[in-house]
Amino acid sequence: MVNPPPYKIKVVEKINLRSREERLRILKEAGYNPFYIKADDVYIDLLTDSGTAAMSDSQWAGMIETNQAYAGSRSYDSLKQAVKEVFGFDLFLIAHQGRATENVLFSTTIRRGDVIPSNTHFDTTRQNILSKGGEPVDLLVEEGYDPTSQHPFKGDVDVEKLVTLINEVGGERIPLIMMTITNNAGGGQPASMQNIKEVSRVARENRIPFFFDACRFAENAYFIKKREGGYSSKTIREIVSEMFSYVDGFTFSAKKDALVNIGGILGMRDQTLYERCKNMLIQIEGFESYGGLACRDVEAVARGLYEGVEDDYVEHYCQQVQYLGEGLKAKGIPIIEPVGGHAVYIDAKRFLPHIPQEEFPAQALVVHLYLEGGIRSLEIGSVGFAKKVEGRWVYPKLEMTRLALPRRVYTKEHLDYVIDVVAKLYEKRDKIKGFKMVYEAPSLRHFTFRMEPLEPLT
Ligand code: F0G
Repeated sequence: MVNPPPYKIKVVEKINLRSREERLRILKEAGYNPFYIKADDVYIDLLTDSGTAAMSDSQWAGMIETNQAYAGSRSYDSLKQAVKEVFGFDLFLIAHQGRATENVLFSTTIRRGDVIPSNTHFDTTRQNILSKGGEPVDLLVEEGYDPTSQHPFKGDVDVEKLVTLINEVGGERIPLIMMTITNNAGGGQPASMQNIKEVSRVARENRIPFFFDACRFAENAYFIKKREGGYSSKTIREIVSEMFSYVDGFTFSAKKDALVNIGGILGMRDQTLYERCKNMLIQIEGFESYGGLACRDVEAVARGLYEGVEDDYVEHYCQQVQYLGEGLKAKGIPIIEPVGGHAVYIDAKRFLPHIPQEEFPAQALVVHLYLEGGIRSLEIGSVGFAKKVEGRWVYPKLEMTRLALPRRVYTKEHLDYVIDVVAKLYEKRDKIKGFKMVYEAPSLRHFTFRMEPLEPLT
């Protein structure tokens, strides 16, 4: 049961369902890569929850009301207040999106040969670490790799593995410990407050700064409220305050939980680090009071931060995702359980057991979801996360097709349509065949690849 949304619709955008024949042509022209399908040709766009939220009347009004200035815009003060009130941080920098905050932080802190542990680094984070000569290490609890485990916090860091790693490589080679909340590359799974506290303790004992990759902090707080003892009567804001009290800083793509279309924040407590990052920011993003954004976008982030932690909104968004997940499960479709925060992840290994990972089963599902119903989704599996080790591909444990829900955008009817399309596809899953790669870039290949089907699509 999903309660009605705590908002009503004021502006709408028309969407188009192309014919099957057109969809076949569109897929072929896009090299079967969803990033090359035009948005106008997509009926239900579940490619990402990033930068796709519907902004509120207050955010749009604020964008007009603020002043546009190179330095010292009033929006900077609004954001300062929001960052202080929501996250409890005095020091922060603005950037144009999450990966720019990663670039500024890692350029300033990582030396060649350093190791950066996390529950699971996301793709851009991983690449930003590698490009600075660092080594990203994932230390997720084992349950996080089991699609059917009902563990309530499958995004937790394995603390024992973290301590072992610190003892092995030495604290001086670990410039920071990270934790992605919620764990996007691991099924949108949350980390518990208990785990956040433990990682914080280990970090402090070893004098290593602890940072969140905070993209979906509000959904993480919602799961703590629902699943962890002692939090059910607390507000999302209170839980967020406590979560952030345990960290020394955070990278943040505002395009998710700040309900905006562009923006990022880098928060920290250390004044020296702040000064160094600020100099880097001025070199690559812009002056501190706008950091690569127009001031109107800074204003939208400031207002969105408050809206993104309102209890009724967070509850409704998470319930929508839950509704989609439960609907798919009821039709027998294998998904990553429990349902995560911002997306439902279909378990492609179980959906298409006849396609080996080197033929990209999760990507095959992405193609067929578009072909069957004009639905755009994203592969998080062997295209995005396979690694070449000594000349051979090593495939990730999880092979998933992600259906990410833009915030405040789709209705229950849209979700019912998605459930029906996936169910129809599931009935004829045996007919779905694998793909082969015909072009790939040397890094982050999942954005720009081109593929061909092993058997022609009809
Ligand atoms: N960290 C995580 C966990 C993310 O999910 C993303 C983006 C980033 C960092 C980078 O932020 O896009 O603002 O530069 N995730 C999007 C997604 C793209 O679709 O999951 P960005």
